[in-house]
Amino acid sequence: MEQRQEAEKQEEEQALAYRDRIGFVGAGQMGEALICGFIRAGICSPSQLCACVRSEERRRRMLELGLQVFGDATLGGAAELAAASDIIFLGVKPQYLDGVLEALQPHVTPNHLIVSIAAGVRLASLEAALPEGSRVIRVMPNTPCLIGQAASAYVLGNHATNEDAAKIYMLLSSAGLAVSVEERMMDAVTGLSGSGPAYVFLAIEAMADGAVAAGLPRDKALALAAQTVSGAARMVLEGSGDGSLTHPALLKDRVTSPAGTTIVGLAELETSGVRGALIRAVKAAAKRSENLG
Ligand SMILES: NC(=O)c1ccc[n+]([C@@H]2O[C@H](COP(=O)([O-])OP(=O)(O)OC[C@H]3O[C@@H](n4cnc5c(N)ncnc54)[C@H](OP(=O)(O)O)[C@@H]3O)[C@@H](O)[C@H]2O)c1
Repeated sequence: MEQRQEAEKQEEEQALAYRDRIGFVGAGQMGEALICGFIRAGICSPSQLCACVRSEERRRRMLELGLQVFGDATLGGAAELAAASDIIFLGVKPQYLDGVLEALQPHVTPNHLIVSIAAGVRLASLEAALPEGSRVIRVMPNTPCLIGQAASAYVLGNHATNEDAAKIYMLLSSAGLAVSVEERMMDAVTGLSGSGPAYVFLAIEAMADGAVAAGLPRDKALALAAQTVSGAARMVLEGSGDGSLTHPALLKDRVTSPAGTTIVGLAELETSGVRGALIRAVKAAAKRSENLG
């Protein structure tokens, strides 16, 4: 009985999300990744989506994806987008956010849920720039959202409801992993998963370079390097078979045989300070996010 009620509740929540019209103020790298992630997941159709764009290139791309398109948010686009949306994603760079919020503010109603993906911008500043009582959620997604493999974190503002929490979880988890965090953790999330795809791209490129130097053709080196990273990550996420994470140190120990090739490679990484470099990279990006706020 309890299970049936739970299933009915979930269906009801899903139906709510399916009906929402979602607007994107700014549809660049991250905005497009979210749009494509949602469409690909089937969580909403292009006819439920719209976007404010500035450049002709962005307009063409959004039309190609089947979205309704409005112009520059600060030149009238925000009003049109607000009228056509229930959920509004703020997808501009942090330095453009003030202007966008000023343009959007008069058009935000109690029916709107505002979702900011801007790095470093605090809920308090977002809420202060919007009408009193606005329902706001801060999200840090990442670009693998494009292929349904996002790692996203979110935190609710003061006036966001449980229903809003269910909606954002459903949207984000349709395109990857979604976790709720406290706001004080958002800078760390930004330094880790928000910026992290770039660290991994660099690692894949460098590993492939090493293989090319050792005699492998470039295309095969790149494919093997990327699949190695993907497979290793899946072992941490799924290797236990019961949904719990497997500690990477355990997996590493399992693949290092005495006097083997892997331990020699690992020793080289440790000598080069790769572990420390990654720790410093995440901390530096987190600090940068803190300074943006
Ligand atoms: N990229 C990531 O990996 C990532 C990850 C997590 C969070 N974020 C956050 O996502 C946000 C967007 O980053 P991004 O990398 O997607 O930047 P982006 O590629 O530059 O996209 C931002 C888009 O906003 C548009 N825009 C700016 N002002 C506008 C206005 N007044 N009206 C309509 N459109 C406007 C820009 O138009 P133009 O094309 O004309 O410049 C651009 O297409 C940032 O706040 C960032 O912190 C990014």
